[in-house]
Amino acid sequence: MTNQPIRVSKSLLEDYVNRVFLAAGLDQEQAAITARHLVHANLRGVDSHGVSRVDVYTKRLEIGIVNRDLHFELERETPASALVDGGNSSGIALATKGIELAVKKALQTGVGIVGIKNSNHCGMLGDYTMYAAKHGCIALATTNAPPNMAPWGGRERFFGTNPFSYGVPAGEEDDIVFDMATSLVARGKIIVAQKNNQQIPLGWAISKDGKPTNDPNVALDGLVLPAGGYKGYGITFLVEVLSSLFTGAAFGPQIADLYKNFEQAQNVGQCFIVIRADLFQSMDQFRSRMDQLIREIREVPRMDGVERIYLPGEIEREKTADRMKNGIPISVEILQEIRGVGQRYSIVDDPLFKEIG
Ligand SMILES: NC(=O)c1ccc[n+]([C@@H]2O[C@H](COP(=O)([O-])OP(=O)(O)OC[C@H]3O[C@@H](n4cnc5c(N)ncnc54)[C@H](O)[C@@H]3O)[C@@H](O)[C@H]2O)c1
Repeated sequence: MTNQPIRVSKSLLEDYVNRVFLAAGLDQEQAAITARHLVHANLRGVDSHGVSRVDVYTKRLEIGIVNRDLHFELERETPASALVDGGNSSGIALATKGIELAVKKALQTGVGIVGIKNSNHCGMLGDYTMYAAKHGCIALATTNAPPNMAPWGGRERFFGTNPFSYGVPAGEEDDIVFDMATSLVARGKIIVAQKNNQQIPLGWAISKDGKPTNDPNVALDGLVLPAGGYKGYGITFLVEVLSSLFTGAAFGPQIADLYKNFEQAQNVGQCFIVIRADLFQSMDQFRSRMDQLIREIREVPRMDGVERIYLPGEIEREKTADRMKNGIPISVEILQEIRGVGQRYSIVDDPLFKEIG
């Protein structure tokens, strides 16, 4: 069997994943939201947050450590804000509803802030900020995550890889969507390397006794390092404050591990801060100045050996265009894994696997 990834069509992959989540007990709306989100991550090249998560998400639903029914309860609300109690339901469905509500409030009042507590892993944050940008809003999104990173200088797990993302609408140019883990790389990338039996670059992580490693197994047993040293740690801290201290979700070491703890609800939090882009000037002015900024950045003289300057999110946008046209490359290991998940629910006849033989 080839070790090369196999290109599969977006629609077949999404239909299959949708089927699996329906079989795992999500209702039609949640299954469709979750399938669309995961395949969107693969389309953008964020494979660490794509269909490689189907196995663990379905296991958690099956065991009942994640609630199959969606609870989206508004605990406190103002015209510009809402605190949602997610009732331990699926994180992607909650966060999708959360950003929709934040955008709706921003369009009505100028600003929309939605916090979610009692939530679960919500995938690729850029999906949410991209939605806001599409609706003419500037958005910030945060979530906290299980402890895998030490506070700067420490060597015990405390913070998660606490990602944050922003989205900004442009005019003729594409909207800007920046999306990063505040660790040097998302831990999901190390998990994908482990599943694919690949080494990781030195500098991504350290072993549990503080030594550099390129072995994904040692890294997953150890700690990831913050992006940009103490500066990344400072941003991780802010992400924790917005996602958890602000919303009432669990923080730092209180958060249960997604892959190892099947007994305790995660209780992670998310925060969406959405601002209508025409709050201070007309939308046309804002959009055309964004276009100008983007074009001027492209014209900046480049360092030796640099072929082009990318805008935040541009690499992912180009990957999306390629993958829409030529199919999404998925490793054989991950295809086998998701086929196995389907088999758990007696899904054995899916056209996705007919395509790959
Ligand atoms: N839900 C969770 O608990 C959780 C936790 C951690 C990470 N994540 C997700 O993991 C994903 C991956 O995060 P990551 O930090 O590995 O991403 P990354 O390092 O691949 O990219 C980070 C950002 O940098 C930009 N970028 C990359 N190269 C660039 C270049 N040469 N020039 C300009 N911009 C460039 C990308 O467009 C992207 O916006 C994100 O979607 C994040 O939301 C989720």
